[in-house]
Amino acid sequence: MVTHSRLWLSGVAGLAALAAAANDAIITSDTYFYGQSPAVYPSPEMTGGAEWAAAYEKAKALVAQMSLEEKVNVTGGVDLGTGCSGSVPPNKRLNFPGMCVSDASNGLRNTDLVNAYPAGIHVGSSWNKDLARRRGAAMGGEFRRKGVNVLLGPVVGPAWRVARGGRNWEAFSADSYLSGSLAAQTIQGVQSEGVQTSLKHYIANEQELNRNPGVDEAQAVSSNIDDKTMHEVYLWPFQDGVRAGTSNIMCSYQRINNSYGCANSKTLNGILKTELGFQGFVMSDWDAQHAGVATALAGMDMVMPSGSKFWGSHLIEAVRNGSVPESRVTDMATRILTAWYQFGQDTKFPKPGIGMPYDVRQPHETVEGRDPQDRSTLLEGAIEGYVLVKNTNETLPLRSPRVISLFGYSARSADSSSPGPGDMLIYLWRYGMTPVGLDSALAGLIKSPGSRLPDIAINGTMMGGGGSGGTTPAVFVSPYDALSVRAAQDDTALYHDFGTPKPAVVGGSEACIVFGNAWAAEGYDRPRLSDNFTDTLVNTVAGQCSKTIVVLHNAGPRLVDGFVDHPNVTAILFSHLPGRESGTSLVKLLYGEASPSGKLSYTVARQESDYGHLLKPDEPAGRFKKFPQSDFTEGVYLDYKYFDKHNVSPRYEFGFGLSYTTFHLANLSIQRVQGGNSGEWPLGAIVPGGPADLFHDIALVAVEVRNTGNVAGAEVPQLYVGIPGGPAKQLRGFDKPFLQPGEVRTVQFRLTRRDLSTWDTAAQKWRLQRGQYAIHVGTSSRDLPLQGTLTI
Ligand code: BGC
Repeated sequence: MVTHSRLWLSGVAGLAALAAAANDAIITSDTYFYGQSPAVYPSPEMTGGAEWAAAYEKAKALVAQMSLEEKVNVTGGVDLGTGCSGSVPPNKRLNFPGMCVSDASNGLRNTDLVNAYPAGIHVGSSWNKDLARRRGAAMGGEFRRKGVNVLLGPVVGPAWRVARGGRNWEAFSADSYLSGSLAAQTIQGVQSEGVQTSLKHYIANEQELNRNPGVDEAQAVSSNIDDKTMHEVYLWPFQDGVRAGTSNIMCSYQRINNSYGCANSKTLNGILKTELGFQGFVMSDWDAQHAGVATALAGMDMVMPSGSKFWGSHLIEAVRNGSVPESRVTDMATRILTAWYQFGQDTKFPKPGIGMPYDVRQPHETVEGRDPQDRSTLLEGAIEGYVLVKNTNETLPLRSPRVISLFGYSARSADSSSPGPGDMLIYLWRYGMTPVGLDSALAGLIKSPGSRLPDIAINGTMMGGGGSGGTTPAVFVSPYDALSVRAAQDDTALYHDFGTPKPAVVGGSEACIVFGNAWAAEGYDRPRLSDNFTDTLVNTVAGQCSKTIVVLHNAGPRLVDGFVDHPNVTAILFSHLPGRESGTSLVKLLYGEASPSGKLSYTVARQESDYGHLLKPDEPAGRFKKFPQSDFTEGVYLDYKYFDKHNVSPRYEFGFGLSYTTFHLANLSIQRVQGGNSGEWPLGAIVPGGPADLFHDIALVAVEVRNTGNVAGAEVPQLYVGIPGGPAKQLRGFDKPFLQPGEVRTVQFRLTRRDLSTWDTAAQKWRLQRGQYAIHVGTSSRDLPLQGTLTI
């Protein structure tokens, strides 16, 4: 039976009711919250469906031969000592070799001879679907060669609700549409190599603070979301991922409407397995399971890293005593093994975990060698994710200057003898600290007198963030390395001072480059969005050098108002997290061998307070101290939608980025697609992702893009739609043509039924309203010169 609580349906009113209770006695039992997340049972069994049919039949045949114990074994992780983040045990009797599942979405963690790929934020800012797919395929090949069956990524949750969120950088963007498009490409890329993806963290996993229970005896934070916001914002990119065929989804640590992510029958049985018709399996985040029977009945299918605490023998007992029907366990095993067959892992796959063990004295080669294509993907991926936001006085590109001076702690590779903040976290992970233990340790650290959370990686340049998404590449080129090589070619004298907080600039420097960074890692949220140390460094150099170029590696928004108006700060490059080819890509851009083409995938404010209540994580408070609450009262208005609604002008808006050339957009055309269902409601059968016709085209929009400048480059035309009753504009299309000087290309955006619909909470369906839809096309969310109307 499906019940709808007041909170679920009335959204913000329900949240207000919760807040009104805030003066009463401290809540000590979670029975207080019963009903806030509707109960949806039983868990839907997989049905196969067109794309999964053959694999499903094979899995059913295999599972039919299994005893209850054997089925349960497939559902729980074991530690095989392989170095994989988690392992499914083998079944020798049935020739099932088990599976290795490993982190993460920016490259393979915790092993040797692998690459660090541009991180999620970097891919998001490249707005390039083709590159996202190629990056996925390159990572997939690498994971396969190491015997990793499941890549634990990509990340679309967090959705960047909290500007200081510690894990935003692992995800692509603060916009659900952009995030979903790039996640779908990534999934298809990875899975094309026969490696499964685990789209994570489902769902509304927006802050690191109190993400797990156990910190000061509190439960994990609850993300309290109304039904409309859930569908239109948080579910959106997961829906794209299900449609793209992700084999599995990772349920998240925190609670959703006060029910744990991996025990939430509404989000798992209801939304994922019923509404979206998801045919894959649900894997727990590490130690995110807090109950046995409840998680089984709510629709979780696999527990990591260990099955023994709540499942294993307990699940067998639960089946024997009737608490869990055996059919549920059969469905878990069938879903897991269908995915295994679906990607050919029964025939063409290396032994699980074969290349993973990490031993510096005896590096493990990958089983098949490397793919030379990966090099260009790594380099192009790095180049396209930089965003140039300021470039005055003809500062960039550089033209063989005679003298350049370099400054800042972030220009060189980290010194391995002095571990920095990222290394500390990676170290804790590698040596077995559980995520819960890590969170408590960090909480203790935060509270100890005088301690400061790391906000910059002072020990060296940053090519990625920290925690389970951190990577340790075998090969890495730092900005300083690459600049030294280039300077030698040009006979440029390169001076540097990387240590002095207030350095002196050598006279005659034609350009000065200051390197800084903004660090973030899993386990805690960022303490601030800028730091005085780096701002002072920039201002000190700018005081002595008329062309000061600021290169910031940033794991999330980094404010620049501390120096942006200094007349000598003539160029600013958000360099995000480029991965292995950090230095090489930077030199190509600084010297104009490539024109910058990235666009911000999030909003950069002028000051922290401009983000309003979306700046910081919610803290445990008052009556709900033991059950921290995070009320998503802003509804669908995140990032640029929030700035638009509250009339706050950003420093650099979502979608903004400069180039070395210029573009002109013209000839907007808007056309209704004739034929098919044009009614208010989708009528199609449920396929993975939702009703089939939710993805049918309703309108086509086209625009001409012309390179009007002197050098080749790529532009990102962006389409925003004003849906009646919704935010003034929402991204609903983008492309990235690369154009020679003078070249012109027509790009077309397809608007599907979903793109134009809103979630109707009463009908529990997507509704295509009748009315006028504003169409805006341009090159950023605030530079939209082409306007039109679509009538539905
Ligand atoms: C993280 C996941 C990660 C897992 C395995 C968890 O703490 O939240 O993103 O995949 O650990 O390392």
